[in-house]
Amino acid sequence: MPHNHVFGVHRDISRDEWLNIHNRSAPEYRQGEWVREALLGVGRLRRKLFQQATGNVLDVACGYGSNFAYLPNVAHITATDFSPVMLEMAQQRAQKLGIHVDLREGDAEALPFADAHFDTVISALATCSLFNPITALQEMKRVCKPDGRILLLEHGRSKWRWLASYQDRTAAGMVDDGGCRWNQETSDLVRQAGLTIVSDERSLLGIFRAMVVLPSSGNG
Ligand SMILES: C[S@@+](CC[C@H](N)C(=O)[O-])C[C@H]1O[C@@H](n2cnc3c(N)ncnc32)[C@H](O)[C@@H]1O
Repeated sequence: MPHNHVFGVHRDISRDEWLNIHNRSAPEYRQGEWVREALLGVGRLRRKLFQQATGNVLDVACGYGSNFAYLPNVAHITATDFSPVMLEMAQQRAQKLGIHVDLREGDAEALPFADAHFDTVISALATCSLFNPITALQEMKRVCKPDGRILLLEHGRSKWRWLASYQDRTAAGMVDDGGCRWNQETSDLVRQAGLTIVSDERSLLGIFRAMVVLPSSGNG
């Protein structure tokens, strides 16, 4: 049985179960859109970060397409997710926005794209949901052009100790209910994957991180 390492907690969980959790929680995730995007301000964070996306863009673990409305400067959007339920909703979102998005069912840990294919790789609220986030980050690096950018909007362990300790205490339940490791240390994962963080802006009690990342290690 593959392991999913929740930070400070341990879970034995299969990939099929992980996919089931995401398929099952997809409608509820979309229902939370107003609270997440408007009330918590995640929409504003998407707008600010993803306006930097240019050229041929890949959206990894796109969910129901929350990022699609925030890509004003791009030539082409490809989006991928492993959940057919999410992809169906993403198709509806693209239609509603009147934009064309190439949607592809695929595993973020084995992206179905050639090396150095995209100018910008974006991903939002996703590394916390990926089975092996480091493998997925390495895949983002592989498919991004060497002079391209990876833009990550993530959430993880708060910098406030009281909140971080609450996140640690409730981490196991968050994994079981929504497939989310909400106490992960995202910047550590990005560095472990061999990527270089250019900027890392925290917001909302230090939970949300808007990161601009280069697909190269600091050593070039
Ligand atoms: C919390 S949702 C975020 C969706 C979207 N990016 C957003 O910002 O709203 C996490 C997404 O990761 C997807 N996911 C989880 N593991 C995956 C994997 N191994 N490959 C591709 N997608 C995956 C889930 O299906 C889900 O759509």
